Amino acid sequence: MNPRLVGLLFLCVCTALAESEYIKYKDPQQPINTRIRDLMRRMTLGEKIGQMMQLERANITPEIMRNYSIGSLLSAGGSVPRPRATPEDWVNMVNYYQNGSLSSRLGVPMLYGVDAVHGHNNVYKATIFPHNIGLGATRQVYNP
Ligand SMILES: *[C@@H]1O[C@H](CO)[C@@H](O)[C@H](O)[C@H]1NC(C)=O
Ligand SMILES: *[C@@H]1O[C@H](CO)[C@@H](O)[C@H](O)[C@H]1NC(C)=O
Repeated sequence: MNPRLVGLLFLCVCTALAESEYIKYKDPQQPINTRIRDLMRRMTLGEKIGQMMQLERANITPEIMRNYSIGSLLSAGGSVPRPRATPEDWVNMVNYYQNGSLSSRLGVPMLYGVDAVHGHNNVYKATIFPHNIGLGATRQVYNP
């Protein structure tokens, strides 16, 4: 056999083994502190910084989530997937960005934040709770 081909085969086998390597922080059977220590030990400074960020979704792509290991994304007030978006549109949008995070070097999933008041008020037709009326009612003097 051609020695170069043998070298190439050896390289391929090693790559396959590396991909199936046991990764402690991904093992739910491990105690949480063990998983945290293992993950922290693997993270670069850039990944730690990325994990502490929360970015507004409007100008973000899954590629940005992946490349910079961004920890959290936010829908600020009115930042919806599209006008009159359905719950399914929301799920698809979150999964779209989550794909980027899960594809990052360490595959840490992102958190998704929503700036919502009085119920999930960014979601079209969601129930809105009249919170301010309730707050106002607490100021009513009890006078039997
Ligand atoms: C993400 O990383 C890839 C590979 O290094 C690079 O080609 C691409 O331009 C980067 N994209 C962004 C938005 O950083
Ligand atoms: C992200 O999406 C691509 C294209 O649909 C898919 O091939 C890939 O497996 C997904 N990655 C993850 C981590 O879900």
